Amino acid sequence: MAIPLSLVVALALCLVGSQAAPFIPSSEISVKAAQGLRLIELGEGLQPVWKTEDEKEELIRSQTRFFDVTDTYELSQKISNFKVQSAEISYGELSQQSIVTDAIATISLSNMQTNLGTLTSFNNRYYRSSTGADASTWILNTVRTIAAGKSGITASAFTHSWAQSSTIVRFAGKNSSAPVTILGAHMDSVNGGSPMNGRAPGADDDGSGTVNLLEAFRVLVSKGFAPATPVEFHWYSGEEGGLLGSNAIATRYKADGVKVKGALQLDMTAYTPPGVTPVTALMTDFTDPALSDFVANLVQAYTTLGVVRDKCGYGCSDHASWNRNGYPSAFSFEARFSQDNPAIHSSSDTTTATGFSWSHTLEFTKLAVAFAYEMAG
Ligand SMILES: *[C@@H]1O[C@H](CO)[C@@H](O)[C@H](O)[C@H]1NC(C)=O
Ligand SMILES: [Zn+2]
Repeated sequence: MAIPLSLVVALALCLVGSQAAPFIPSSEISVKAAQGLRLIELGEGLQPVWKTEDEKEELIRSQTRFFDVTDTYELSQKISNFKVQSAEISYGELSQQSIVTDAIATISLSNMQTNLGTLTSFNNRYYRSSTGADASTWILNTVRTIAAGKSGITASAFTHSWAQSSTIVRFAGKNSSAPVTILGAHMDSVNGGSPMNGRAPGADDDGSGTVNLLEAFRVLVSKGFAPATPVEFHWYSGEEGGLLGSNAIATRYKADGVKVKGALQLDMTAYTPPGVTPVTALMTDFTDPALSDFVANLVQAYTTLGVVRDKCGYGCSDHASWNRNGYPSAFSFEARFSQDNPAIHSSSDTTTATGFSWSHTLEFTKLAVAFAYEMAG
């Protein structure tokens, strides 16, 4: 006699629930979420707790890092035993030197300046504000314009339960079922004192990573980039609201069985402390050591930056969403974590702030172009 599948699933969920952290039933999630409460995880492996939006904004104000798992908790419980990444992934020697060198010579700093001018002109890019939604529409339209008339490239919105969508563009790759190479940045910005209405130009956090990826994408399209394996560019919504967009996407990929070769995060790439030799800090926590070593090789081969290793703590950017779902990720940051841009999350995060450097952020566009070619070329 066949056991009904629903019963098997129910039993399996009971077992998971009794062995792991106490299980939050879906009835509780739907009731509390309908009341406007958010389910917040404040540390690795900690049971998430309910917070009001005001309490969540207080966490943002105090620069406490967290995952908002309200929309992902149930799916992530269901797929907790999925093993998506079966075969081990390895990263070889660099092999695309001449084509990468040729491509990075065509990076336009003036395009980056124009794009960042537009992004910083939105009052803020908060994920729940109307101007945050406008910014996501602008990004989608911009990448669609770049890709217009080209085959093998798709651009789409990844919508959420809040106003601002994430954007995904994909080069299909000759083998479209091979593991995906991902480049990510977050499109949202926040004024910690007044998230919904406060001025948050977010030039560095993370307008810089956003324009690195826009310009790298333009360069690849103009070079007729036709990778062997799929390459995606992700502009995430709601990073400042608890890694919302990236965790929604990474959880969905795991549920759908998508394999990922590696995800590189660019979040804050334009600030270098005055008087300090420019470096990138590769974060060693919540990242993959082999992928981070590969990124270090790219930085040394294709940019003028030095490489240091550092840690940024729990939930500090979207690489953590990939790591959480069992995927290899790396995070290349503008400086040592203790020497980052003091102007972020305020109206002062502008391109004229002390330490904001166009030449510094330009190096990260080179890194993005090199990552796409050398991972998937
Ligand atoms: C495409 O990639 C898949 C997954 O890595 C692999 O199993 C398959 O052999 C590849 N196909 C070709 C034609 O290389
Ligand atoms: Zn950021």
